Amino acid sequence: MTLSEMERLSGKLETDWFANAFDALYPIVYAHRTVEAATAESAFAIDQLKLCESCSVLDLCCGNGRHMVHLLQHTPHVTGLDYSPDLLGFARVQLGETARLLRGDMRAIPFEGVFDAVANFFTSFGYFQDYSENLSVAQGIARALKPKGRFFVDYLNPDYVRSHLDPETHRKAGDLDIHERRWVDESTKRVNKVTEVSRAGQPVSNSSESVRLYSPVELDALLDEAGLTVEARYGDYDGSAVDPLRPRQIIVGTRAN
Ligand SMILES: C[S@@+](CC[C@H](N)C(=O)[O-])C[C@H]1O[C@@H](n2cnc3c(N)ncnc32)[C@H](O)[C@@H]1O
Repeated sequence: MTLSEMERLSGKLETDWFANAFDALYPIVYAHRTVEAATAESAFAIDQLKLCESCSVLDLCCGNGRHMVHLLQHTPHVTGLDYSPDLLGFARVQLGETARLLRGDMRAIPFEGVFDAVANFFTSFGYFQDYSENLSVAQGIARALKPKGRFFVDYLNPDYVRSHLDPETHRKAGDLDIHERRWVDESTKRVNKVTEVSRAGQPVSNSSESVRLYSPVELDALLDEAGLTVEARYGDYDGSAVDPLRPRQIIVGTRAN
């Protein structure tokens, strides 16, 4: 991607992109993010969180509840929090009337000392422009946990993103045409994406995404400042170590005190 193209696309990035990007089209555009795909991910998280069968867990940024389906098979004490009314609506249909689902902003998690564990799946961290806002998410996780409570954050691996980013893709989902352009802006250390969805040549939606690329050292410092101690870090759900060829940076740890 040329510099001028990058500058032009940067004009399409919205500061509060997360308020628009996760609408009713999201499960269609990201059709591979299914309940089935979440099976092994949830099993790995349950193991890493040492989640007992009476333990309470918060699925922070639960989306359509695809991990909650599996967490609920392990313990009945599962709460999901998300900002998207559309995705919470899908979660309600998927999980039924008794499921504990809450609309909220991850920068203001409304719980204190009540959860044995907090899970945050699939790159739902680093969304905000300011360090202080991303810090407030981690502080909210620490506050929501009981003393010695455990957290699990499945975040991206910046080295992998930098070496594997496909700058432009065109794909189809049903009758929708999806055009995605991606780039890393090293001045802000963010990976950005602009998505245009159309049907039969007519625009259906435009959205953007922008995630801060925290290196392991930066992320450890942020989590430490929030009162969270990192105990383990994995490069994928198979438990492999983080390295530039592994896609994820999965962080597991405990509330510091
Ligand atoms: C990449 S999706 C992951 C969803 C889910 N964890 C999964 O794996 O399917 C990010 C999720 O974060 C939610 N989200 C975005 N901004 C948020 C905010 N400020 N507060 C709470 N949730 C937010 C979105 O609505 C979306 O469900």
